[in-house]
Amino acid sequence: MSNLYIKHATIVTPLGNEAVRGVGMSRLNIIEDGAILIKDGIIRYVGNSNPLRQLYSLFGTGATFREIDAHGKVVMPGFVDSHTHMVFGGFRPDEFRMRLEGASYMSIMEKGGGIQSTVNATRKATVADLVENAEWLMERMISMGVTTVEVKSGYGLDYATEAKMLAAIGRLAAKKRIEVVPTFLGAHAVPDEYKGRTSEYVDLIISDMLPKFRKAAKFCDIFTEKNVFEIDDSRRLMEAAKALGYKLKFHADEIVPLGGAELAAELGAVSADHLLHVSEEGIKRMAEQGTVATLLPLTAFALKEPYAPARRMIDGGCAVALATDLNPGSCFSGSIPLTIALSCIYMNMTVEETITALTLNGAAACGLADRKGSIQPGKDGDLIILDFDNINMLPYYVGMNCVKTTIAKGRILFDS
Ligand code: NIG
Ligand code: FE
Repeated sequence: MSNLYIKHATIVTPLGNEAVRGVGMSRLNIIEDGAILIKDGIIRYVGNSNPLRQLYSLFGTGATFREIDAHGKVVMPGFVDSHTHMVFGGFRPDEFRMRLEGASYMSIMEKGGGIQSTVNATRKATVADLVENAEWLMERMISMGVTTVEVKSGYGLDYATEAKMLAAIGRLAAKKRIEVVPTFLGAHAVPDEYKGRTSEYVDLIISDMLPKFRKAAKFCDIFTEKNVFEIDDSRRLMEAAKALGYKLKFHADEIVPLGGAELAAELGAVSADHLLHVSEEGIKRMAEQGTVATLLPLTAFALKEPYAPARRMIDGGCAVALATDLNPGSCFSGSIPLTIALSCIYMNMTVEETITALTLNGAAACGLADRKGSIQPGKDGDLIILDFDNINMLPYYVGMNCVKTTIAKGRILFDS
């Protein structure tokens, strides 16, 4: 049943149908003793806790509603994880160990490990294998309050395997547990067979992949990085994607400052992600264009890299989102609790900014801010109920899950 009435809650939510920039990120709407009525999966009422029968007249007496008393608990929008690579074959624990012993992420990649080793495993996997592995990860994300997840391809790097990955992402979406946003990331790395022929591989993506994946993927993404896809190839590929109607995302300025953020803003990308080494100019351009700056602190943590300059971006007027980057290499973690802790402790984002970044701005980074990311009438009934009545518990309970209940489109998916 997707009819639900939650009463006596402390409702905490950002407001609006688009990304919130700069100082606006710290503004949350708070309703004490609040109520939320969800009918057929959609939020119909947000306000004071009225007796349900008074609300029946508004929504027709035939309907029945499951009631939840959320006294002493925060109810907030479900988290939106707007950047993941959670469909993949195989794990890379030995590579992680090499990094612990001093090897760098790029040096492992240049020696044929890294992304290419996941590509080799993913090429061998079936769609069913990929879905099974991703579902296992997804259920854990749901238990941490995630109600929307973006998922990228990018471990195929040939037509057949990219198609297989997008099919797996489509199957995850078809299960309708939570909202799944599909992204085509054919330009994640240059596959071994094209080593030294990057531009030819970009040609192949443009001619053989982009036109065929238009229905399966909403976004096109690229790893714009020194010695991977540099600015000229990135521009060429993303202009072609844009012309076909894809929305754009970039892995930008992760390892070195290459101008990825500037390019993302110039091409009207929805988001630029990572940004550990973003330039001042890049920050300015993203703020001007409204390109969402998606920060992935778990990756910086796992790679022992400095965190993205979140404060400079927010103070410079950017809309900042936070996401996990869950993937088998640089960051094998989908921990929302640790993301929150790192954001507040090491990136100096306030609790309010962190909440906005993981809800409404994450939704905007998925092109879904009109339906997701805040608790407002007309939006999807995607909510979480915390174990506590104070949002400061989120970073304070370091790395621990504060989510009691996860609700997507009015259905309870997890309840501890
Ligand atoms: O976002 N930077 C490139 N892509 C991923 C890592 C992928 C992998 O190592 O498998 C990232 O960090
Ligand atoms: Fe990534």
